[in-house]
Amino acid sequence: MLVLPPGIRHFPGFLDETGQKSLLADIRAAVKDAPLYVPTMPRSGKPMSVRMTNCGPLGWVTDKEHGYRYQDTHPVTGKPWPPIPDRLLTLWDEISGYRHPPEACLVNFYSSDAKMGLHQDRDEREFSAPVVSVSLGDACLFRVGGRNRSDKVVSFRLESGDALVLGGEGRLAYHGVSRIYPGTSGLLKNGGRINLTLRRVNPPGAP
Ligand code: SIN
Ligand code: MN
Repeated sequence: MLVLPPGIRHFPGFLDETGQKSLLADIRAAVKDAPLYVPTMPRSGKPMSVRMTNCGPLGWVTDKEHGYRYQDTHPVTGKPWPPIPDRLLTLWDEISGYRHPPEACLVNFYSSDAKMGLHQDRDEREFSAPVVSVSLGDACLFRVGGRNRSDKVVSFRLESGDALVLGGEGRLAYHGVSRIYPGTSGLLKNGGRINLTLRRVNPPGAP
């Protein structure tokens, strides 16, 4: 049996098909307003294979010049991000164990050959809130370890409708996506995977 590192919780099938379809409709509406764009790596300017956008008061962005950060506007349109869909705020309340709402929802779109290298989520100022994510569409092979890059890593599949929490001791766990399994879900007409990551950025009451 697979033992997850401390603080990592996997909820297989957290959203049923109806829930997944409704959430997808919410995200499609948000993406109309805040289109997916190609993020680039700090310094090298190398494009990531994942396309991104955000919902919420803050969004996580990266580019060659200014690196990883949160900002309140879309880097291409210059407009504020659309709001986080209510059903994601409810999901956060159900599984985060954190009293305040998330401020950012990163939307990652993976085509069949996209992946994401092992990294920590550490651009936030509030680490007592967990990172909560939801997967839609094709399955992926997800990897997660501990706070050090050299810690043992376990791999398992995230399927459409699964939720995942990185909290407590697992809040700063290294994680990544090694591959997408094309054709494993009929949710997205043209295939691919969407991951929605909810994060609290600032401590409550922070200026
Ligand atoms: C991320 O770490 O930003 C995305 C993780 C995932 O796609 O499951
Ligand atoms: Mn991450």
